[in-house]
Amino acid sequence: MVSRKKIALVGAGQIGGTMALVLAQKQLGDVVLIDIAEGVPQGKALDIMEGRSVLGTSAILEGANDYTALKDSDVVIVTAGLPRKPGMSRDDLLSVNYNIIATVGKAIKEYAPNAFVIVVTNPLDAMVYAMQKVSGLPANKVVGMAGVLDSARLACFVAMELGVSAEDVQAIVMGGHGDTMVGLYNFCSVGGIPLPQLMDKETFDRLAKRTATAGGEIVALLKTGSAFYSPGVSAVKMAEAYLLDKKSVQTVAAALDGEYGVEGGLYCGVPVVIGANGVEKIFEVKLDEEEQKAFDVSLDAVKELVAWVDKQ
Ligand code: APR
Repeated sequence: MVSRKKIALVGAGQIGGTMALVLAQKQLGDVVLIDIAEGVPQGKALDIMEGRSVLGTSAILEGANDYTALKDSDVVIVTAGLPRKPGMSRDDLLSVNYNIIATVGKAIKEYAPNAFVIVVTNPLDAMVYAMQKVSGLPANKVVGMAGVLDSARLACFVAMELGVSAEDVQAIVMGGHGDTMVGLYNFCSVGGIPLPQLMDKETFDRLAKRTATAGGEIVALLKTGSAFYSPGVSAVKMAEAYLLDKKSVQTVAAALDGEYGVEGGLYCGVPVVIGANGVEKIFEVKLDEEEQKAFDVSLDAVKELVAWVDKQ
């Protein structure tokens, strides 16, 4: 008998609600939404439940206001925290979201110590680092969602520029999930064709720059919050790779233990293999001098935030 998987979404806001709908559509498991806002997780769960005959899904969704609902979850995706408002950087969220992650991390340790944990809350690299420390879960079972989204954004902009389908574009954005993230020209391909054969470096650099500030572009348009559809589907892609043991190659914020010359479990966006054991392998790709320099700058930005977390 194949048992049903349980996916807990801590944070039932914009991203949490998006993920609940997509997870239900994909029938990856039953979903519990957990949020401190009374009625919100229950309301969103019931709303999606009522659409199930139309969606054609048998997933069961529930809402809860306390962390005991995390019990026995296979996957926990954390979006609890504040999103950005116009004029704010992701780093401005550091102290307020740290307190929330610390609370949620302790609850995961208590109720779902065997789960695969995906952190989405910003500032991402520092929050996933804090989650791993506070929860004490193995580093291969705690990851951050940023690279999948940043790479998808770059793929989107490349596709728009070339007038081709985004699904045929492969892109990698490495480093921290901030303005210093690194889009890789030589790693991009379009239907298997290396991008440098189709686009000059100057054009690519413009698109990579837009990618690095793409979150802010959405914040400026929405005015009341940050992007949620593309972050939601990106986190679901990571959960799916774990639940289906896909051995999927994705760029995620993973704990580095010697890879890329980084020690101490610092989290940073790198290409990894995700399967039933979480992060099963970290690929150490060869960067050219310019890319390595940009990656180092990005790492420094992450280190600064992590140093703050270490003092808490
Ligand atoms: N436990 C559970 N839920 C919490 C907690 C907590 N301690 N604190 C806050 N929340 C909930 C809020 O009540 C809210 O419903 O987290 C939810 C966050 O949802 P939104 O404000 O809609 O934010 P969202 O757009 O989903 O983004 C969430 O992801 O991308 C990042 O920067 C973004 O940090 C932000 C996070």
